[in-house]
Amino acid sequence: MVMWAGRFKKDIDKRTNDFNSSIRFDKRMYKQDITGSIAHATMLGKCNIIDEEESKKIITELKNILSDLESGKLDFDMNSEDIHMFIEGELTRRIGDTGKRLHTARSRNDQVALDLRLYTREEIEEIIHLLNELIGELVNMAEKHYETIMPGYTHLQRAQPITLAHYFMAYAEMFKRDILRLKDALKRMNVNPLGSCALAGTTYNIDRYMTSELLGFDSPCLNSLDGVSDRDYAIEITSALSIIMMHMSRISEEFVMWSSHEFKFIELDDAFSTGSSIMPQKKNPDITELIRGKSGRVYGDLISLLTMMKSLPLAYDKDMQEDKEAIFDAMDNVKMCLYTFIPMFASTTFLKDNMLKAAKKGFINATDAADYLVKKGMPFRTAYKIIGSIVAYGIDNDKTLDTITVSEYKKFSELFDEDIYEYIDLLKAVNDRTAIGGPSPETVKKHVQVIKEFLKESN
Ligand code: ARG
Repeated sequence: MVMWAGRFKKDIDKRTNDFNSSIRFDKRMYKQDITGSIAHATMLGKCNIIDEEESKKIITELKNILSDLESGKLDFDMNSEDIHMFIEGELTRRIGDTGKRLHTARSRNDQVALDLRLYTREEIEEIIHLLNELIGELVNMAEKHYETIMPGYTHLQRAQPITLAHYFMAYAEMFKRDILRLKDALKRMNVNPLGSCALAGTTYNIDRYMTSELLGFDSPCLNSLDGVSDRDYAIEITSALSIIMMHMSRISEEFVMWSSHEFKFIELDDAFSTGSSIMPQKKNPDITELIRGKSGRVYGDLISLLTMMKSLPLAYDKDMQEDKEAIFDAMDNVKMCLYTFIPMFASTTFLKDNMLKAAKKGFINATDAADYLVKKGMPFRTAYKIIGSIVAYGIDNDKTLDTITVSEYKKFSELFDEDIYEYIDLLKAVNDRTAIGGPSPETVKKHVQVIKEFLKESN
């Protein structure tokens, strides 16, 4: 018979039970469920709501259940409706009536709200840790490539010269914001729903500050209806995770392109790429493709949560049981992506010569050539037009701005002289971009320092 048997005359239909039950996915919260129950039992004992001795007995047995689950001595009963019913049922099976006292002044509604918060909090700490690691690798790589010239793109057309370090540090900024977003959400979600009970709190004289402190929350939540039905944090976290995936999908897309023979900017380590079952020459960037693909899946989790919560009347509704698979899936996938991407990134070879070659071919110093004329007194718009004609001339004659001769230049403007080559030198073009945020090695080095400080504080 099920736990609520008193009111019912029939046992539950198997199909109802299978449909209703969540143990197959909420069993992973066993540790949080037991931790929450231990805090609750401690408080019940200390507040004399149950006998201290019985509270101790409950706590001891909950600890035994935890270690039995972890050692494999105890298996989950997949016929239980959920992890909460399973743990409470097992406790009662072991210590009888004392076990039945644990659920005093509590409901599964505040219990599940608590467990999911505890679980999410731990997972997010881990994701923050992985993001720190990733930023660390970006910084390491940047330090090796302050002077590695590559074309910067807009519209995926070669635009202006940048350095590989400058490129890596752009991602360091994105992942830094991701960490800040998660930490911000963690702060907001760190309130304790336990004590909200089913929806309307309790008449027992519970101490919600005590459980909050035992469980590492900043405070108890201030409204019991909100306490059992708030899933904002799950949505905020999954939204932050979606943004992480969006960032990962951008660098992944670049890696997919860069590993192609058309670009050939990188060589992936053999250990982090895959072959084809039919084409012997293939070396595929599967990891980054999969990350790109998984970004869609995590966005899907976010939409699931938003839609699941939309229009739900207060307070708890069974719809909310659907929150777990979505947020678990988002956290699992972000973790897997980071976990695999970090070593893949760290082992990638960046083919500097090919980057430089591409940089040289794209007329990416055209803006600098225009600036050269401006420095010699010409208005920018006029200079812009002249350089445009020179670029067209270069394309027609298979020449770049470095290989066009001075006499050829002079046909377009008398202002040109030998010093044009020095002016349009790619390294000079990069070195001169010293304004904050620019690609000059000096500027990027300063940025690296800022990020290193951030990492020290964030770890
Ligand atoms: N398994 C449920 C969930 O995940 C636990 C809470 C159920 N509460 C209830 N009154 N049916 O949401």
